[in-house]
Amino acid sequence: MDKIIIEGGYELKGEVTVSGAKNAALPIMAAALLAEGTTRLENVPELKDIATIAGLLRHMGARVELWPGRAEIEVDQVDNPVAPYELVKTMRASVLVLGPLLARHGQAQVSLPGGCAIGPRPINLHLKALEAMGAKITLDHGYVNAETPDGLKGTEFFFDQPTVTGTENIMMAAVLAQGRTILRNAAKEPEVVDLAAVLNRMGAQISGAGGDVITIDGVTSLKATDYSIMPDRIEAGTFMVAAGITRGRVLIKGASPGCLTAVTKKLEQAGLVIEEKGPDLMVTGPERITSVDLKTKPYPGFPTDMQAQFMALMCLANGLSVVTETIFENRFMHVSELKRMGADIRLSGNTAIVTGVPFLSGAPVMATDLRASASLILGGLAAKGQTEVSRVYHIDRGYERIEQKLSALGARIRRIRA
Ligand code: EPZ
Repeated sequence: MDKIIIEGGYELKGEVTVSGAKNAALPIMAAALLAEGTTRLENVPELKDIATIAGLLRHMGARVELWPGRAEIEVDQVDNPVAPYELVKTMRASVLVLGPLLARHGQAQVSLPGGCAIGPRPINLHLKALEAMGAKITLDHGYVNAETPDGLKGTEFFFDQPTVTGTENIMMAAVLAQGRTILRNAAKEPEVVDLAAVLNRMGAQISGAGGDVITIDGVTSLKATDYSIMPDRIEAGTFMVAAGITRGRVLIKGASPGCLTAVTKKLEQAGLVIEEKGPDLMVTGPERITSVDLKTKPYPGFPTDMQAQFMALMCLANGLSVVTETIFENRFMHVSELKRMGADIRLSGNTAIVTGVPFLSGAPVMATDLRASASLILGGLAAKGQTEVSRVYHIDRGYERIEQKLSALGARIRRIRA
């Protein structure tokens, strides 16, 4: 199993290019199930999760080719509309095939994702919305069995709480349904907007994506198309913190600042200087990091996927900051590992009270989930001495060649096969 070794204390300098967004590429690859012909995707990140969904689509009968940065998906027919437990347990986003399979093939058998390190993460809202569209759903032996003998019907559905993949799944179900579907209290994340854009290029009729009311008028068929995936705003945000925590100066190319407003605002409050240069962001770290309180929220609020990285920064701030996680029940797994590096953090329910310390010390630490592992790498970049991050398979799920990108910025970081 690989480990990442970091010698801390080096200011990051130079430029880094943001890869395509994992959380846009996954639903967009699932959407290829809806279309006749060959879908060609550019700016596809080379990640473990992308390989997993490619494997899942092949398992169903699709032809999927992956090249560095590109994917080609052809789904003439799905001869096996099943998402098996073996695949779904490695990546819960596999549930994103449910809507497209039902819409195009009238039936699907998808393993229930089960719990996750950051919370129980049920899919009850996905299933409730599909039932409202006329799907017959049973849960059996850990699987969701769904069928639509008379096809899906448009409906009006209110999400009890905004759900990103829930909105994406139902949007994909509704594009081939009979009549109009109106989704209320929908998720507004940029990845939802990116998915709606590619579906509309396939011939769908979606309006309002990015707002909390999305309207979809069903059509009879969709044609495959070519599309370039949006940049990864969470990867960009992670590099912004890397520049800040090392007191460096980094140009983040293709960051698409418009999707990072909440992150930028908070980092500016922490003392970072952030200059917009068209699609790029120039980020300069401060001499002294200022403590800032933070509460995660659905978009356009501060993303939960940046909470751990921001907490690493607050560990070195000049005072006390209160970090409140409102999206997931158990997203503080990085706290005990940051404390191993000398951080001063007290937990109380969904709140972490971080008292800044003058420095962190390098230590052996263990990654527990994707974003927690990013926060440990950030802590290691700033720490005195050597940090050894184990279980880095977590980071490979969502960050493309992170150690190469960081070492190109002057970080002393390498991967070892342990
Ligand atoms: C997406 O997960 C992202 N994953 C997550 O990124 C991200 O953290 C999350 O949205 C929130 O922004 C992908 O896009 C593949 P939700 P998702 O449904 O869709 C509850 C990363 O690090 N809920 O918006 O699974 C749920 O438990 C990953 O890249 C229900 O109760 O998140 C949570 O508390 C981690 N019932 C809240 O809603 C449902 O049916 C929001 O979850 C659905 C969700």
